This record gives sequence, structure tokens and C-alpha cells, in this order.
Amino acid sequence: MQIVLIEGDGIGPEVTQAACRVVAAAGVKVDWVKAPAGIPAAEQFGEPLPEETLEMIRRYRVALKGPCTTPIGKGYRSINVRMRQGLELFASVRPVNTLPGIKTPYEKVDLIVVRENTEGLYAGLEHEVVPGVVESVRLITRSAAERIVRFAFELARHRGRQLVTFCHKADVMRLSDGLFLECARTVADDYPFIQFEEKPIDNVCLELAMDPSNFDVLVMENLFGDVISDLAAGLIGGAGPGGGLGLVPGANLGTRFAVFEAVHGSAPDIAGKGIANPIAVIRSAALLLEHVGHGAAGARIERAVIKTLQAGVGLTGDIGGTGTTATITDQIIKNLGA
Ligand code: NAI
Repeated sequence: MQIVLIEGDGIGPEVTQAACRVVAAAGVKVDWVKAPAGIPAAEQFGEPLPEETLEMIRRYRVALKGPCTTPIGKGYRSINVRMRQGLELFASVRPVNTLPGIKTPYEKVDLIVVRENTEGLYAGLEHEVVPGVVESVRLITRSAAERIVRFAFELARHRGRQLVTFCHKADVMRLSDGLFLECARTVADDYPFIQFEEKPIDNVCLELAMDPSNFDVLVMENLFGDVISDLAAGLIGGAGPGGGLGLVPGANLGTRFAVFEAVHGSAPDIAGKGIANPIAVIRSAALLLEHVGHGAAGARIERAVIKTLQAGVGLTGDIGGTGTTATITDQIIKNLGA
């Protein structure tokens, strides 16, 4: 099976290599087809997301991706935003759940954050009106809004989830979130067997901080989803500055293509030191395996991660250990057979 591998930059090469080792140890034969993106691609091709990379994903359909640095300011548009738009990866899915051995103030977190990936304020429609005044367009279309809410309900249905919460700010952004809310209500009507609620995004933040166990599947537009994904990662703990970022996997899904990647970024502060936590990318690879019909191997990897966290041996600093990327990966591989 051929699958595209984008190592990315910063800690990307370290954590994606760890994931490839675990997939091989789980007995799935993958021929990883490397495709460039991020700083090395910008240096080599003058472009951080070369068209060849998008073409390779279009050809092989599925990719595992490491994080890529986005330089702030003029010049580059975010690679991730461009990739999601260019491949119509309209849904971002981030399961966030409490894990054994990880210190957190919350006993039970078990959420899935579903984010619309192609529109909203990340549509990239920005311009300078006059010097000192810039404008960003918040794009919401009926088709994309209905598509993402339906996706969230279908996910809930297939995963045995009981509640879908639509997050919005329709009282202030009356037109854009007004339309999104109307679409959410229309789609929810098709799923009377799944509970539906609509909540302002600021209330959702407060309630997540107070008691995340009240939530199940959350669905929202692009920018809100970006923020809530990181907030949710923080709920499941971790001792380092990244909170639970090193633990949370993610999938960007479209009708034809899929790119699996962790929530975290390229972590330039720890890049090259061999101490990054590879679990988020390893769990993303497990989701990838499920997507391509190797669900049993994916589930085995997930169980091995849980056993490793329970045992608490070889863990990286962000989750309270003194180990390295290599020691934690070795433990996960060892626990595949346990
Ligand atoms: P970040 O997620 O890279 O780092 C935030 C903090 O979490 C840092 O202290 C870092 O050391 C820690 N951290 C993150 N992942 C970790 C891991 N696996 N193990 C241990 N600690 C970890 O976020 P930041 O600093 O805001 O972004 C850095 C760069 O990454 C930026 O250029 C940003 O645009 C890019 N980025 C790329 C993403 C992607 O390619 N999917 C996603 C998010 C950010």
C-alpha cells in the first residue's frame, strides 16, 4: 500500500519517523512516498507547498503529515490552509479524550471536535483597503455549512455518539453565523435520534473549562474550530508548555482525499533535540490505518499507546517523563505485542 508521507519541519521529521516505525511494527506494510512541504520545500523549490506534493496526494489519496512552520506576515499563505482548500479536505476531526497516567483536572473528557476546514475567516480573502486598514472576509456558504454539519451527525451516528453541539456567534455575526445556524437546524432535523443543541462559542469555552464531560461531538466553523481544538487539547493535560498537544491526533477528510496530522505545530523550541512526544502523530497514523481498512492494526496501536501511558516508562517531558522520542516509541512498539 502506497501512502504519501510529508515529514514537515521542526519536530515533524522526528515524530513522523516514529509513527512509521510503529505502523511497520504493527504489521502493516506501507510503502511511504515522501513529498516535500514546509521550510525544506521552500528552500528547495521556493514554495513551501509545491504543486507536486498536492498532485501526489491526489494520486495516492491519503497522506500522513508532520507539522509545517508558517512564517508570519506577508509572502506565504499557511500551507495547511492551502492544502485543505486545494484538496477539498472540508472536515477536520479531532478526538480528544483523557488518557491514563496524564495529570488533568478533569476526570472524563471524551470529545470529538469537528471543524469546517475550507471557509470562514480562513478562506484567505484579505486585502488592504487603504494603508492602515485591512479587511478579512468571513465566507460562509450554505453548501459547505450543511456539508460539515451532516458530516458531524454521520460521525456521531457511526461512532455511537448521542449529542451534537453546534457552536456559533449568530447574535453578533447575524448574517454569516445566522446562515450557518439555519443550516445546522435543517440538517439536525434529519437526525431526530441524536440530540442536537446550539450554543454561543463563548458559552462553550466557559462550559468546557467548567465541565467538559457535558460535551460529545462539537461542530463549528473554521476559526472557532482551530481555537477549540487547542483548548480541548489543554483539557487532557500534560506537564509541558504544550499541554496535551503532543497527544491529540487529527484527520482532515474530504470526499476523495484524506490527510492525517497531529493538532500540534512544528514546536521550534524543541526541534532537533529528540524529545518531542510522537504520540499525537502515532495516533493520527492509527486513524489513517482505520481509514484505509486496517482498523484492527489502528486499534492495536491505540491500545499500545494506552498501555505505555499506564506503565509510565520512557515518557517524554511534556507528559511528565524524562525520556525521548525514541524511548517512548520503543515502549509503544514493545506494548504492541502485550
Ligand atoms: P506548537 O504546537 O508548535 O507548540 C506549542 C508548544 O507546545 C511549544 O511549547 C511546543 O514545544 C509544545 N509542543 C507541541 N508539540 C509537542 C510535542 N509533540 N511534544 C512536546 N511538546 C510539544 O505551536 P506554535 O509554537 O504556535 O507553532 C509553531 C509553528 O507551527 C508555527 O509556524 C505554526 O504556524 C505551525 N503550526 C503548524 C501546524 C501544522 O502544520 N498542522 C499546526 C499548528 C501550528
